[in-house]
Amino acid sequence: MIRSTAFAIPALAASLLMASSVAMAQAQPKLKVGLMLPYSGTFTALGVAIENGFRLYVDEQGGKLAGREIEFFKVDDESDPSKATDNVNKLIKRDNVDVLVGTVHSGVAMGMARAAKESGTLLIVPNAGSDAVTGPMCAVNIFRSSFSNWQSSYGMGTVAAKQEKKKTAMTITWKYAAGEEMTNAFKEGFEKEGGKVSKQLTLPFPNVEFQALLTEIAAAKPDAVFAFFAGGGAVKFVKDYAAAGLNKTIPLYGSGFLTDGTLEAQGDAAQGLLTTLHYADGLNTPRDNQFRLAYAKTFKMQPDVYAVQGYDAAQMLATGLAAVKGDVSRKAEFAAALQKAKIDSPRGPFTLSKSHNPVQDIYLRKVDGKENKVVGIASKSLSDPARGCRM
Ligand code: PHB
Repeated sequence: MIRSTAFAIPALAASLLMASSVAMAQAQPKLKVGLMLPYSGTFTALGVAIENGFRLYVDEQGGKLAGREIEFFKVDDESDPSKATDNVNKLIKRDNVDVLVGTVHSGVAMGMARAAKESGTLLIVPNAGSDAVTGPMCAVNIFRSSFSNWQSSYGMGTVAAKQEKKKTAMTITWKYAAGEEMTNAFKEGFEKEGGKVSKQLTLPFPNVEFQALLTEIAAAKPDAVFAFFAGGGAVKFVKDYAAAGLNKTIPLYGSGFLTDGTLEAQGDAAQGLLTTLHYADGLNTPRDNQFRLAYAKTFKMQPDVYAVQGYDAAQMLATGLAAVKGDVSRKAEFAAALQKAKIDSPRGPFTLSKSHNPVQDIYLRKVDGKENKVVGIASKSLSDPARGCRM
């Protein structure tokens, strides 16, 4: 008799506890995630890959993060910085999202970061490398799952000078934050190792009329050219460079965006190109293999760096949410949890710097067929200098 009571009371308590935690879980409203990405223009494929990656991770968790179901709100930012403030406010003020995820274009991302800082809304940047986002604009509620522009290109400069033994180079890119920061980072690395960048060519974003600039390169005959273009613009640039015959005489280097997610369309024109990036084909780790298989099965296409960054944005959100039990208002605790975390990325595990940017290996890759095959590591555990961040 005594015995059965001793069992009955804990059983009752346990079932009451279960009922109340079920009620609590039911009481948790859906977590509103605002995706602000390019769904039109030269970066469309990048936005789609980021969303795919993000959704894949959420689906792998059964559609919930920290017990909260996810509800998506979407805005096409058109990679247009002049519309950034209006667009981000649709998500912050109209839709009242808990978390912002975006974007691809550095100029648009700076508008998002400004709005996130003012409103206190959590922001995870799944691509845009704007150095300022984890530099002067850094904040407790702003995170990046991708890279800084400096980080992506500095190592290509050192490799071009030291390993490839180039003495002179020209750079070419779109005239906006990402292009300027990547080509300047290449120059910094190249000149530190004794090279000299003779000229930095630009054209307005997202123009693809490269002919006059290619003619200028052909006349100047530098030892090498470094380029940043991405998406549709990268496809056209690499093809035009080859069509002008320049790929036979002046090696073309780039940050890996030049050849990521673009090789189907670039075909022969891209063969043999050397680039640097925080992701590559042929990593052949169990983590990456599992991710690639799941992505290919779900979306019937191969993942690229953008898909990885979207996937990791969701992983970072899950890590922070778990620490605050789904309560995004506990920003300092959310940030502290991420600061301690090791993110199990398909690219290889990474941690976050004090300014909330990934500390990661930068791979040297060489185009071989439809792959950006890893051929080495250009920079090991590279941290962005976070110039101007006070946090
Ligand atoms: C950027 O604007 O920061 C940007 C855009 C596309 C890329 C990489 C960086 O592929």
